Amino acid sequence: MPIDLETEVKPGALDPFALYESRPRACWLEIGFGKGEHLAWQAQAHPDVGLIGCEPYLNGVAGLLTHIEEEVISNIRVYGDDARHVLSRLPDASLERVFLIHPDPWPKRRHARRRFVNPPNLDQIARVLVDDGEFRVGTDHPIYREWTAVQMSLRSDFEWLANDPSDWLNRPDDWPETRYEAKALEGRATYFRFRRVPRSV
Ligand SMILES: C[S@@+](CC[C@H](N)C(=O)[O-])C[C@H]1O[C@@H](n2cnc3c(N)ncnc32)[C@H](O)[C@@H]1O
Repeated sequence: MPIDLETEVKPGALDPFALYESRPRACWLEIGFGKGEHLAWQAQAHPDVGLIGCEPYLNGVAGLLTHIEEEVISNIRVYGDDARHVLSRLPDASLERVFLIHPDPWPKRRHARRRFVNPPNLDQIARVLVDDGEFRVGTDHPIYREWTAVQMSLRSDFEWLANDPSDWLNRPDDWPETRYEAKALEGRATYFRFRRVPRSV
C-alpha cells in the first residue's frame, strides 16, 4: 500500500504504527530498497513487524510491488520518493531498525556531500531509532566503507556491533543478498551493524 504523505498523513506527524491494519510489534524502515528483494524478505521473515520502504526509482517500486503481489505480503508500506521526507515526519524513538543497503557510493570527493551517510541524516536516524535499535549499512564500495566507518566513529549515539572482522565481513543469516550486491564488482561487501546507544535519563 502506498503512503501519501500529503493526503493521508496529518502534517508534521507520521505515526508508523497507524499505517497497518493491526498494530505491529515494531516498525522498521528501508532507505533505497532498489527492486525490493531485501525488504520483501524481511517482511516475510518478520510478519509481526511493519516495514516502510522508501525508493524514488519507479522501476524499483514496481519491482517491490511485484514481490508484494506475488508473495502476498501485507506488512509493507511504500513511499516512492526521498526517504528524508519520511524520516523528518517520524516521531522520536519510533523505529526499531533502519536499513541502508548499498547506498549510491558517490565515490568522487566532490560528491561526498551526496552520500546518504552524512551528519544530518545520521542525526535523523538516531532520533527515530529506539534505544538499542539497529542501523544497518551494507556496501561493497571501499570508499563508502571507509567513509561510513569514519562517520559512525565520530558519533556518540551509535556503537558499532563488531568484535572482530568476521562480524562485518560475513553476511548475517538475516541479511539476504540484494540484486545490486549480486552484481557488484567493486569488492567484497561489508555488513555494518550499529546499535543506537540508549538516551541518557
Ligand atoms: C545502489 S542502489 C541499491 C538498491 C538496493 N538497496 C540494492 O541493494 O539492490 C541505491 C538506491 O538508493 C536509492 N536512493 C538514493 N537516494 C535515496 C533517498 N534519498 N531516499 C530513498 N532512496 C534513495 C536509489 O534510487 C537507488 O535505487
